[in-house]
Amino acid sequence: MKKTKKRILSGIQPSGFLHLGNYFGMMSKMIEYQDQDDLYCFIADFHALTTNPNPKILSKNIYNAVCDFIALGLNPDKTTFWVQSDVPEVTELAWILSSYTNLGLMERSTTYKDKIAKGIKPNMGLYSYPILMAADILLFNSNVVPVGKDQKQHIEIARDIANKFNASCGDVFILPEPDIVEKTQLIPGIDGQKMSKSYNNTIPIFGEEEIIRKKVMSIKTDNTPINQPKNKDTTLFYLYCLFANKNEKLSLSKSYDSPGLRYGDVKIELFQKIMDYFAPFREKRAVLQSKPDYINDILNIGAEKAKAIASETLDKVRALVGLGVANDL
Ligand code: TRP
Repeated sequence: MKKTKKRILSGIQPSGFLHLGNYFGMMSKMIEYQDQDDLYCFIADFHALTTNPNPKILSKNIYNAVCDFIALGLNPDKTTFWVQSDVPEVTELAWILSSYTNLGLMERSTTYKDKIAKGIKPNMGLYSYPILMAADILLFNSNVVPVGKDQKQHIEIARDIANKFNASCGDVFILPEPDIVEKTQLIPGIDGQKMSKSYNNTIPIFGEEEIIRKKVMSIKTDNTPINQPKNKDTTLFYLYCLFANKNEKLSLSKSYDSPGLRYGDVKIELFQKIMDYFAPFREKRAVLQSKPDYINDILNIGAEKAKAIASETLDKVRALVGLGVANDL
């Protein structure tokens, strides 16, 4: 029997330089999915707008995020890949859904509260961020949504919105399942906290070699004397293991257990491993950067494919809520 493919969808905000945390979190997982599943992937620029980025920087970041994803292996022949704002149907669905979403549901959003606590000025876009995200997911009949742990509540909100809409207007939406990428939470930055742009502790993937070297060399370590064994439950050991094979891990583990290891030597090796691992991606990235026509073609095709599905769902939703002029009177 032919197995029906699951539809997997996820988006990433265009927020500047990609880092190891992005890659080993949602991105590498999405790229793995594309061989056996029906993958939908987009750059969430409408969501980025909620924090009012500088317009010139935002549009550069969108282009960069597209190049990053393709360089890292996202294959536009297998995956429907687009920029969110190129399929504005999603905002219409978000508007319709917002009329069927109780305020109480939005008020429970922890990401909203976190952002306000960080000093981001609240605006209506930020407040209804989860509704737009629900629209992203529901518009494309997604079965599974891979996201980091911090986004889990958003998927639950999308399910709540879908359930309520289905119950009050008619069964149209598929209830999405979250696929939580635990790793994203775990990848430590150079200071040991979760790697995140907002902590300024990231190691970029496509940055200049010198910057990557500096970041790796400044990974925080403890001051255990050279002649004593070292603690393996630490950032440097963890990051090294992301790039090491079994034997290399074993051998580093032994070195940590015995006296004589210098953290500086491990850092130099880790830097080299990062550069080697990403070398082919960096080469591809450099070529893509100078081919805006090629990138635009990919995005146009992706947006067309996404629009076809979006408008089908939207037609059903419009009919269910009674929008448009009735012509069957
Ligand atoms: N909010 C997600 C994040 O910041 C990005 C996103 C927007 C998304 N729309 C989505 C992720 C739909 C999954 C599905 O990571």
